[in-house]
Amino acid sequence: MNAITSSAASAAVSSKARALTGRAIVPGDKSISHRALIMGGLAVGETTITGLLLGEDVLRTATVMAALGAKIEETQQPGDKHDGRLPTEGGRVWRVWGRGVGGLSEPADVLDMGNSGTGARLIAGLLSAYPFTSFMTGDASLRGRPMDRVIKPLSQTGATFTCRSKGRLPMAVTGTPLPMPLTYESPIASAQVKSAILLAGLHAQGITTVIEPAASRDHTERMFRHFGVDVRVETGLAGGEAGSSRYKVEVVGQPEITGRPINVPADPSSAAFLVVSALLVPGSHLILPNIGINPLRVGLFQTLEEMGANIAYTNRREEAGEPVADLEVKYSALKGVKVPAHRAPSMIDEYPILAIAAACAEGETHMAGLAELKVKESDRLSAMANGLAACGVSATAGADSLTVRGGGPKGNTPITIPVNLDHRIAMSFLVLGMTGDRPIAVDDASAINTSFPDFIGLMNGLGANIEAVHQRDLP
Ligand code: S3P
Repeated sequence: MNAITSSAASAAVSSKARALTGRAIVPGDKSISHRALIMGGLAVGETTITGLLLGEDVLRTATVMAALGAKIEETQQPGDKHDGRLPTEGGRVWRVWGRGVGGLSEPADVLDMGNSGTGARLIAGLLSAYPFTSFMTGDASLRGRPMDRVIKPLSQTGATFTCRSKGRLPMAVTGTPLPMPLTYESPIASAQVKSAILLAGLHAQGITTVIEPAASRDHTERMFRHFGVDVRVETGLAGGEAGSSRYKVEVVGQPEITGRPINVPADPSSAAFLVVSALLVPGSHLILPNIGINPLRVGLFQTLEEMGANIAYTNRREEAGEPVADLEVKYSALKGVKVPAHRAPSMIDEYPILAIAAACAEGETHMAGLAELKVKESDRLSAMANGLAACGVSATAGADSLTVRGGGPKGNTPITIPVNLDHRIAMSFLVLGMTGDRPIAVDDASAINTSFPDFIGLMNGLGANIEAVHQRDLP
């Protein structure tokens, strides 16, 4: 395999790592970054955003908000790096001048959401409340993902949607001048569905209510509150699914909101790859400052601790209404556990990397309640079961479960895992490659730019051994 340095290389191979040590700055939270740009675009006056994720998904949302009339500028400072640092650490500041709730205007061209399910669904909610027609598309992965989960409730506000078969993009949205405030009981715990309805509800006269079978991440609710919007939440309602309680949120529409500063915490879903690498590579010891620890996002950390992980939280604080802490992680011997279905909403994006931790643990790990994994950037249930099996790890996928037997990858011949436009599948298998004698390649490392643009450089700086390679040189 010939290692190359050119950024044109789109594949990568990960070989056994040295101990991972040091302090690493994890990029900004993807969910919060989308919401910061959207709310900045709806506020009157200037919103300043620090720590914004500069991943492709978020940059698509920035471009779309600008196409809808917001003014967005990245403040250039000499010597700045795209590393998500706070301004006090020399990081970049984004400035958004919004148009007010109800003030967005018709875009002149098709809105391309790239790989981003979150961007597509949240922006669909927004567009449903404006009296013009917009057209939305995305990459091959996003064009295969279901939009009917937002089309169904948003159609009840008076908006109309025209899309391909099975509710897939491309899609035309014709919004309504007078959006009806909905009461919607969602069949799935999905923050994207909830947030699309709440963003539409922000434009409706009256109270919009969403009820979920279990609480999904509440970044929209917290961001609304940060902007002074009246948001009411009821937790612990009877009748939830898989041992969870139902969750209800109400928002009072048509507020006047003004711009304000937002510090975006580092993304726990991106930190997950560093945390698991440190737990699996002997001798590792990482400090990860400023990680979001919203209780509805920390299911992976909780599960890893049950498996025997040594993770310490210090300097707990709040940023823009979100709980944040510094994490210290040390190499730990992990053992298999049963992960209950009710934990799925709080770690929905983390099952691929948990499956890697499980593959290197002692004993068996069983994960339940994974149906939603099949409609993420790729079918992650099949991707993990097939990819692990190819690496010699015993992994069995059920209809909505995954069972992984530990012991690590077998053999020492290099192997290539297909990424299928899925950033988290790519990063997960690069982490597995760090742990043993079998080099593991991914056929498309460019997918990682979706959420963690400098993943390879950062990991190599800490002790990993990941090389960019040409696809033609893949094993
Ligand atoms: C997200 C919600 C989750 C998650 C996605 C980001 C969000 O999707 O998988 O990466 O920012 O609202 P669902 O809400 O569909 O579960």
